[in-house]
Amino acid sequence: MRPTPPPQTYRVKSFGCQMNVYDGERMAELLATQGIRPAADGEDADLVVLNTCHIREKAAEKVYSDIGRLRREDGSAPLIAVAGCVAQAEGEEIMARAPSVSMVVGPQAYHRLPEMIEQAALGQRSVDTDMPAQTKFDVLPARRKVGPSAFLTVQEGCDKFCTYCVVPYTRGAEISRPFNDLVEEARRLAEAGAREITLLGQNVNAWRDDSNRGLEKLVEVLAAIPGLARIRYTTSHPNDMTEGLIEAHRDIPQLMPFLHLPVQAGNDRVLKAMNRSHTVDSYLRIIDRVRAARPDIALSGDFIVGFPGETDAEFEDTLKLVDRVGYAQCFSFKYSPRPGTPAADMADQVPMAVMDERLQRLQAALNASQLAFNQASLGKRCTVLVERKGKHDGQWLGKSPWLQSVHFTADAAIGDLVEVELVEAGPNSLSGRLIG
Ligand code: 5AD
Ligand code: SF4
Repeated sequence: MRPTPPPQTYRVKSFGCQMNVYDGERMAELLATQGIRPAADGEDADLVVLNTCHIREKAAEKVYSDIGRLRREDGSAPLIAVAGCVAQAEGEEIMARAPSVSMVVGPQAYHRLPEMIEQAALGQRSVDTDMPAQTKFDVLPARRKVGPSAFLTVQEGCDKFCTYCVVPYTRGAEISRPFNDLVEEARRLAEAGAREITLLGQNVNAWRDDSNRGLEKLVEVLAAIPGLARIRYTTSHPNDMTEGLIEAHRDIPQLMPFLHLPVQAGNDRVLKAMNRSHTVDSYLRIIDRVRAARPDIALSGDFIVGFPGETDAEFEDTLKLVDRVGYAQCFSFKYSPRPGTPAADMADQVPMAVMDERLQRLQAALNASQLAFNQASLGKRCTVLVERKGKHDGQWLGKSPWLQSVHFTADAAIGDLVEVELVEAGPNSLSGRLIG
């Protein structure tokens, strides 16, 4: 690589989950402290960070085509850093296959970007996929300016080893950030304008501190931060859904009535093959307890169709579960073999055409469930946290406590919490009428 002048402008492109969005924001903040500014819309950035996701599909192939597309008409390219989970999983291979990439940095090492950028300016390429003892959180700059709804990563990694999932390999073992650091970061987020904080973790409800306090204690303390009106958390594992956290949904008004609790499938044999360590029944019992604590709670989840060996009858069990639970919204995916995971080598991989058909049926059922949930909200009064302007004059968009998108017309501003009555419901959004 030839030496290049140090970059003046950057662009961070994040793919995949909310934790990547959080990491992307923190990388941007870090670059800003180095005197590099965000490229304006349409402006060519000197440095591009591709913050990649490895969870499904041909993620790595997509990265290579994204890298190719960064080439400019005159044949030159910006400085390119590949970050995120594909970087972690395929670091050396990216270096070998993509000569225009200068830096490969894993999700636990991106606080070292400034040194890597210095090296890149000298013409040296570098790979850093360490999971260092000194965590990135200890050295990243403080949060400064955020929107009304902000993310806060409290936990990373996963020890569960579901047989389809690459996360335990790319994000490593479960670690929880210390209580006081999180309270401090949340305080700063509130000071910087956040009214809502979503606590993030691959297994966020597995968060605990050294004295074994669980997520509900953290929520309780954050709820007392001035200006912070709403707290959410995602994504959870059924096995870590403690009584204390369930009770927090009853006792802490700032904790929003929404729970993302992935079940993945509705059949016990499939769940066992997935190494989920819960059954349909034990999952339903948790849902019952959560609903007893907070009757209006909106439930959400993730589903995988076409896990190796899944029969038609086993898939029908998933549809039955959807019917029983009555989800407010869900994500659903076709099984995608991840290299290095046990399920990728299992016999009886399900043909793509069968997965397509199952996904269509599942999504039809989930869409119907979502519409029914939205329709059942009609007539309710609730707050909406205003997040952005709508398409029409005077129209605003925000979220209800149940994470529904709500639009309404009023004199408002981003970050306001307004009271509305929900008066119209579609599959993906509702309209609200201002009260008072
Ligand atoms: N194939 C399909 N979906 C997957 N997920 C995780 N790994 C895979 C895979 N190999 C889904 C799960 C998980 C969500 C984040 O992504 O549903 O909950
Ligand atoms: Fe992946 Fe399972 Fe861990 Fe979730 S709980 S990150 S699906 S291994």
